[in-house]
Amino acid sequence: MASGRFLLILLSLLLLSISTTVHCSFACLSNTTCQSFVGYVPINKTTLSDIQSLFSLDSLASLLGANALPLSTPSNYTFPRLSTVRVPIPCKCTGGSGVSDRKPIYTVRPDDGLYFIATFVFSKLLRYPEIVQANNIPNENNITVGQKLWIPLPCSCDPIDGTVIVAHYAHVVKSGSTVEEIAAEFGSTETTLLKLNNMTDPKDLKADQAFDVPLSEYPGIAGKGFFFRNWLSPFCVVGFEASL
Ligand SMILES: *[C@@H]1O[C@H](CO)[C@@H](O)[C@H](O)[C@H]1NC(C)=O
Ligand SMILES: *[C@@H]1O[C@H](CO)[C@@H](O)[C@H](O)[C@H]1NC(C)=O
Ligand SMILES: *[C@@H]1O[C@H](CO)[C@@H](O)[C@H](O)[C@H]1NC(C)=O
Ligand SMILES: *[C@@H]1O[C@H](CO)[C@@H](O)[C@H](O)[C@H]1NC(C)=O
Ligand SMILES: *[C@@H]1O[C@H](CO)[C@@H](O)[C@H](O)[C@H]1NC(C)=O
Repeated sequence: MASGRFLLILLSLLLLSISTTVHCSFACLSNTTCQSFVGYVPINKTTLSDIQSLFSLDSLASLLGANALPLSTPSNYTFPRLSTVRVPIPCKCTGGSGVSDRKPIYTVRPDDGLYFIATFVFSKLLRYPEIVQANNIPNENNITVGQKLWIPLPCSCDPIDGTVIVAHYAHVVKSGSTVEEIAAEFGSTETTLLKLNNMTDPKDLKADQAFDVPLSEYPGIAGKGFFFRNWLSPFCVVGFEASL
C-alpha cells in the first residue's frame, strides 16, 4: 500500500517533468502569407455553414469555389460523412514552416478534449500537442467550455520547381495508401511529393500524416480547370522527453 503510493508519487513527478515538443507544420521557406487549403474529412455529415463556422471563414464563396459548387448553393447544402471537403485557410510562414494564420478559432464545447478536437473535429489535420503549444495551454487536461483555441493547421506558400503555386493542400493520408497513389490522385509525381514532404523513401509514408500535395487542378474557379499546385511537406515530429 505504502509502496504503491510511493510509486504513484514517483509517476506523477515523472509525468510533471515530461516536456512535449511538436512540429507538424509544412516546410515554408518564404516569409509570406497566402491562401492554402486543407482536406477536411468530416466524421459526421455536415453543412456548408457548419464548415464556414468551424473554419472561421469570412465568406462561403471560396469554399464553394474550392469544391466546384455553384455560388447559388444554399448554406444548408450537406456533405456526407467521410467525404473530403477542400477548405481554404489563410497561411502564414515564419521560421521555415507554415501554419494557418491565427485561424480557425474553435470554441470549446462541453465534453471536448484536445485529442478529440484534433482527431475528430478537425479530422487529424493536426496533432493535439500543436494546439497545446500554439495556445500556451498550461494543463492540457484542463480546457474550459467557451475557451477559444487557435487551431494551427499545416500549410505552405512556397513555390515548387519554379512554377507559381496556386495553393498547397494538406491531405490526411489514408491507411494503406501509397505516395504513388496520392500522386496519381492529385496529378502530381512521386518525386515531387517526396521532395515537398522532405522524404527520401516512399515507404516512410504514414497513415494519418498530413501530407503536402500540389493541387494541379482546381476545378472550382471560373468553372474551368484552374492551375493549382499545392505541396505541403508534412514532417511531423512529436517528441517526448522525460527526466526525473
Ligand atoms: C523570416 O523571418 C524570421 C523571423 O521573423 C527572420 O529571422 C528571417 O531572417 C526571415 N527570413 C527571410 C528570408 O526573410
Ligand atoms: C435548406 O433550406 C431551404 C430554405 O432555406 C429549405 O427549403 C430546404 O429544405 C433546406 N434543405 C435541407 C437539406 O435542409
Ligand atoms: C458526431 O455525431 C455524434 C452523434 O451525434 C456526436 O456524439 C459526435 O460528437 C459528433 N462528432 C463530432 C466530431 O462532432
Ligand atoms: C482549470 O482552468 C481554469 C481556468 O483556466 C482554472 O480556473 C482552474 O483552476 C483550472 N483547474 C485545474 C484543476 O487546474
Ligand atoms: C528534412 O529531413 C532531414 C532529416 O530527416 C532534416 O534534417 C531536415 O531538417 C529536414 N528539412 C526540412 C526543411 O525540414
